[in-house]
Amino acid sequence: MKGNIIKGFSKLHEQEKRRMVSGLCLHPEEAVRTMEQMIFTDEKLREKFMDLSENTISSHHLPYGIAPNFVINGNIFHVPMVIEESSVIAAAASAARFWSERGGFRITDLSATKVGHVYFRWFDQPALLKEKWTLIRPQLLHRLKDFTANMERRGGGVSKLELIDDSVRIDKLFRLKVSFETVDSMGANFINTCLEELARGLNEMLNTDEDTNRQLCQVVMAILSNYTDECTVTVEIGCEKKALKGITGGLNVQAFTDKVALAYEIASKDIYRATTHNKGIMNGIDAVLIATGNDFRAAEAAAHAYASRTGRYQALSWCSTDNNALYIRLRLPLSVGTVGGITNLHPLARLSLEILGNPNASELMGIVASVGLASNFAAIQSLVTTGIQKGHMKLHLTNILNILNATPQQRTEALVHFEGRTVSFAAVKAFLND
Ligand code: MEV
Repeated sequence: MKGNIIKGFSKLHEQEKRRMVSGLCLHPEEAVRTMEQMIFTDEKLREKFMDLSENTISSHHLPYGIAPNFVINGNIFHVPMVIEESSVIAAAASAARFWSERGGFRITDLSATKVGHVYFRWFDQPALLKEKWTLIRPQLLHRLKDFTANMERRGGGVSKLELIDDSVRIDKLFRLKVSFETVDSMGANFINTCLEELARGLNEMLNTDEDTNRQLCQVVMAILSNYTDECTVTVEIGCEKKALKGITGGLNVQAFTDKVALAYEIASKDIYRATTHNKGIMNGIDAVLIATGNDFRAAEAAAHAYASRTGRYQALSWCSTDNNALYIRLRLPLSVGTVGGITNLHPLARLSLEILGNPNASELMGIVASVGLASNFAAIQSLVTTGIQKGHMKLHLTNILNILNATPQQRTEALVHFEGRTVSFAAVKAFLND
């Protein structure tokens, strides 16, 4: 077996943790220095960050950029994005600018209902449970009053409580399906708190048959679902084909539109392409979610599950054309918040929302989805014309020059030299050595 089990790591002081971890590195002192360098010097910020998670030994930084000029439902947004992958912000910005002069992004459909479940087994006749359900349902709702009061004041709460019979799929399994409106919060804590209270309620009211003392019900678990198929947003872009002139890479507009349409068709039918196509969408989506302090893992899980909802994994965006025009639409589940959670704790998350004009959660859903569609359109436009490497290469070159500590003069000369040439680490190194 490689490696050693560390006992009591969480109990160590922060500095001791760093020292212990640095022992895993080739140059321990340098490792400690790197970890310390990345921690905020401001005492308050430092404490805030170190306390966000557990076993914290440093702070991980990612580039924070802006994709300006998104016109969404007639309003202009300059969108903060956090991403380490070069070209993503540039591509989103270029698509945003292009569509800003062609009607912008239009949010055509939006719903924000979230769901959670209490899974339980029922050991008696299903008919008996259904009979009891009419009696206990109002009592369960009543139990939630204290937990939902605050959310109700803000316009949300529990909107539906249903009993679902799942025993055909799994023996004796039932679940409570609970629908929530969480207004401007993502609502994960609120939802899970309510669900756990419902689970306690089920246990108390249904657990044992009073006469025989026989167990009737066993709660398995209570948890929100990240499959937010009732919390979705649809965004579209579209224009006359002739307005696409300038981005067709030398093709006539009809040939360009045909290629774009075919690229979308391939992504709707071929899982190899669909996965990459959706990854391109999530490049934009995740970057805005991280910048605004939202849960990008939840969005990823939901998006890919949604892409498989027909039983076959497909692209989340699609294209339609008629004689004159091209339309591209993206529809995906997206659960976001603009209050609560890390949005209040992370100074850049707060600032991002401010830069966006303090949107409510629905507005933020529209912004995030628009950036996803912009990233997707930019990728397809490149792929069917020049290929994506051309755009990547300049940024790739800058990254290599940074790694090699090139001087400003070397940078200027390298940019000229590599115009139209293939960029590789070895080629740049050789150029600098020359
Ligand atoms: C790269 O991060 C994303 C793309 O591969 C997306 C796509 O192919 O559509 C460019």
